[in-house]
Amino acid sequence: MAELRILVGTMTGTAEAVAKDLEQVLSKAGHGAEIILMDGRDASAFDKAGAYLICTSTYGSGDVPDNAQKLFASLEELRPDLRGVIYGVIALGDRTYGATFCQGGLRFDRLLSELGAQRAGEVLQHDASAGTMAEDVASEWILPWFEQQLLPALEQRV
Ligand SMILES: Cc1cc2nc3c(=O)[nH]c(=O)nc-3n(C[C@H](O)[C@H](O)[C@H](O)COP(=O)(O)O)c2cc1C
Repeated sequence: MAELRILVGTMTGTAEAVAKDLEQVLSKAGHGAEIILMDGRDASAFDKAGAYLICTSTYGSGDVPDNAQKLFASLEELRPDLRGVIYGVIALGDRTYGATFCQGGLRFDRLLSELGAQRAGEVLQHDASAGTMAEDVASEWILPWFEQQLLPALEQRV
């Protein structure tokens, strides 16, 4: 069974609430997931080849949240070879911030792909001002992503 590591970058808890809902949806469908808060993590969070889901909000001027800063900086500095990593991204943001919409997740996407990791599917972007709950949107997105994008990508990798 593919074990998905959900790495959570959050300031006010939305991304963590999303991750918890996703874990439940996945578990009901027989898929394993582990929630890992990014707090205090560094590039070694990607030590194991396999499946990752970045679930992060955006702060400052299109920046990653505080609890993701160390992990992001460590990846930028150490530039590990992540060719064994398949990942997805859930980027939380708010369109009222204009050009920096969802840039926290999109910055992770750019960096991971530069380091050789392979993204499965498209980035899910959630707009906090759109009138939908991030938890609901992500819970509808997760199974098709997991079963139709992630699992085939993992199988092709071996
Ligand atoms: C001070 C502040 C700055 C923010 N900056 C941005 C931004 O630059 N771009 C964006 O898309 N969203 C921005 N947001 C919106 C958050 O990313 C969004 O509300 C998200 O759902 C919060 O998730 P969290 O509770 O997991 O931190 C900002 C929110 C706050 C409060």
